[in-house]
Amino acid sequence: MKTVNIAIMGFGNIGVGTYQGLEVNHGAIAAETGLDLKVAKIIEVDIDRPRPVSPDRSLFTPDRMEVFQDPSIDVVVELIGGIEPATTFMLEAMRHGKHVVTANKAAIAANYEQLIGTAKEAGVLFRFEASVGGGIPVINAITTVLRSNQIEEVTGIVNGTTNFILTQMTQAGRSYADVLKEAQERGFAEADPTADVEGVDMANKLSILISLCFGDRVKVEDIPTIGITGVTPEDIAQAKAEGKVIKLVARATREDGKVVCSVAPARLDAEHPLAGVNNEFNAIYLRGNILGETMLYGKGAGPLPTGSAIIGDIIDIATRT
Ligand code: HSE
Repeated sequence: MKTVNIAIMGFGNIGVGTYQGLEVNHGAIAAETGLDLKVAKIIEVDIDRPRPVSPDRSLFTPDRMEVFQDPSIDVVVELIGGIEPATTFMLEAMRHGKHVVTANKAAIAANYEQLIGTAKEAGVLFRFEASVGGGIPVINAITTVLRSNQIEEVTGIVNGTTNFILTQMTQAGRSYADVLKEAQERGFAEADPTADVEGVDMANKLSILISLCFGDRVKVEDIPTIGITGVTPEDIAQAKAEGKVIKLVARATREDGKVVCSVAPARLDAEHPLAGVNNEFNAIYLRGNILGETMLYGKGAGPLPTGSAIIGDIIDIATRT
């Protein structure tokens, strides 16, 4: 049995979801892969915050450098969120020879080349499946089996919070503020939900998808972005009366060699494949030149679905090293 010592950096909702997922499936993963996935350290200052799991207190440390310098640690899972200091901490971990897994779309969208380049230089693996679409294996799909294609279009609902809000406003007539509060309580929303509701979280994810699908870099600030704060109950009612549904949609295509992209609310026909994607579910539609069309669907936010993708990345790293 090979032990994989994991350090979780940042023990909020997603850190807890990852820990829970490892607790639930530790035995099954060990039986199937021969890997003993062990949370050896939790880099976190706030030990006493109420959480649904209770790791031994001895696992907690506020000192990331102590962990990065510890030769027994194999993988650092960055779950602090935000561009900085998370990017700096990931680069430090890589330079200390640690493989890095993250769910941090803001940091990847802002510093894609630097993170990929530093991992390469340091001879470590960098994985970020959980950064787009939560538990949906879209990054794996694009970077493995779909490599046979020239991707022509990627369109998706890639934010659980806004999709949950719009769904509940549409189907249950609930107020924006009430549903946002529930999205926060259920661990869908960002620490500062402005990034969700203003469309920035979706733009971060679209920037990552563009890099992977088209090999082009489009910075988040260059993606025309409109969130859902301007969508009123009247807009929703009017769309409904016309047999349409309002969804926040990210879209990128390549036209004449140039990437055309946006994040914006869209009025979709009820028959549109994305119209039935509700609540915290996400979906990513891809069109490839030999594949044709495909759509990936699943829970795009929440501690356990996101934890599932993170654990998958850890297993992938452990089986390659
Ligand atoms: N706040 C994000 C969302 C979390 O609602 O989709 C998952 O990236």
